[in-house]
Amino acid sequence: MREWQSRAAVRLEAAGVPSAHSDAEALLEAGTGLGRTARLLRAQEALHPETRQRLDALLARRLAREPLQYLLGEVEWGGVRLRCDPRALIPRPETEWLLHLALHDPATARAVQVADIGTGTGALALGWKAARPQTRVTATDLSADALALARENAALNGLDVSFYQGDLLAPLTGQTFGLILSNPPYLPDQDRGTLAPEVDHDPALALYGGPDGLTLARRLAAQAPARLAAGGVLWLELDGRNAPAFAAELAGQGWQAAVHADLTGRQRFVRAVRAEGQGLKVKG
Ligand SMILES: C[S@@+](CC[C@H](N)C(=O)[O-])C[C@H]1O[C@@H](n2cnc3c(N)ncnc32)[C@H](O)[C@@H]1O
Repeated sequence: MREWQSRAAVRLEAAGVPSAHSDAEALLEAGTGLGRTARLLRAQEALHPETRQRLDALLARRLAREPLQYLLGEVEWGGVRLRCDPRALIPRPETEWLLHLALHDPATARAVQVADIGTGTGALALGWKAARPQTRVTATDLSADALALARENAALNGLDVSFYQGDLLAPLTGQTFGLILSNPPYLPDQDRGTLAPEVDHDPALALYGGPDGLTLARRLAAQAPARLAAGGVLWLELDGRNAPAFAAELAGQGWQAAVHADLTGRQRFVRAVRAEGQGLKVKG
């Protein structure tokens, strides 16, 4: 067992796979169904031929740079389990930090309704609902495929979130929110063809946001004032290259906007509230 893991790690490393050693361990766990302790106790055991075949098939897919999350089938993210497949973007660890920032923002403590725009696997909506079950959570996505996966993930976690298909906030006419969360597509179009091979498996609709990456964020910010309750907050994840410029842009449009760093110090989360007197006086 240990021998298979060591050889797999060497092959993954030689193929340029980042995190080769932890990927080899994760594949061994997925292919054997054995937890860490059982694997340690049985480290010297030879693999059953069928198990070896299953593991070799998983390894071949990872060597071809299929994302590890597809091979594992699901990930733990933001306190929930999320099934991952090509229908939606694989939720990233930095987006967990966006969830954390929004959950710890005092302005969201009394939010009654929360919206997640561009929900993908349902990550932010479900992570929020798990942490704040008393909140009504609504999510939108343009992609019917992503929404189908998000609904499966809601069922997997036993969480009640309302999902709507449509453009940004458009399907939510008539509702107001104490918090609008979004990780919109934000990569500049020029990044096409330059990203890690795994990222090619994410839907293009989830990745690219026009020439400077801000097309969707700008449209969302234009729609948001009508959908934010008084004192409501907009929290966005963007790229380190465009978040500070976007916060400055919002500041010139009647928002109080600030940019926050991720855990590696990149300035990429924008928090924005309407400047005094510019929000709707509606409870949400
Ligand atoms: C970067 S992914 C984020 C997915 C998920 N929120 C996450 O953090 O893992 C962006 C999502 O926005 C969706 N999207 C793209 N354009 C959209 C639009 N005009 N209206 C609503 N959703 C859109 C994509 O389908 C994709 O699911």
